[in-house]
Amino acid sequence: MKQGIAAIVLIGAVLSGCSDRKAASESAAKHDNNSVSDVGIGPVQRIELGAIDSRLAEKGKAIFEQKCAACHKFEERYVGPALKGVTQRRKPEWIMNMILNPSEMLEKDQTAKELLATYLTPMTFQDISKEQARAILEYFRQVDGAK
Ligand code: HEC
Repeated sequence: MKQGIAAIVLIGAVLSGCSDRKAASESAAKHDNNSVSDVGIGPVQRIELGAIDSRLAEKGKAIFEQKCAACHKFEERYVGPALKGVTQRRKPEWIMNMILNPSEMLEKDQTAKELLATYLTPMTFQDISKEQARAILEYFRQVDGAK
């Protein structure tokens, strides 16, 4: 029931944000014609990144090992894509939205749809909070060598 309400709120947010996002993505496309400009679909619209917070990355690593490692490795393809370099090929907002809102991403986001067509297994929501997703992102940044 709670989830149903969340879904309705989310759909409302998506519908009302739709025209803005279209305009934004059209102007982004003029400058940068690939998925790196894409923030995806979900609760994370914009985040600011600073220098690596190694304590946060440590937390992210623990969550990743518990909830994500069944499907992901860094150096090689597994059930899902190898995650090495993911912070270079996707925006931080996109990564967090993929973690927090995978089913809608897989249904509507062009990049995620293409991944699903390749990997054929839908990534599932792992009951991750926004703070936990942010910690995982910090871990990915650290793996990718951000300072
Ligand atoms: C059931 C297996 C599974 C689990 C569990 C899972 N994923 Fe995924 N993930 C996938 C698959 C498969 C894809 C590719 C898209 C698709 O087919 O759904 C993917 C895609 C991704 C992507 C996009 C990769 C890229 O190259 O753009 C990221 C980031 C990601 N997952 C992170 C995570 C994180 C973080 C967790 C843990 C919270 C997680 N995944 C848990 C299967 C999984």
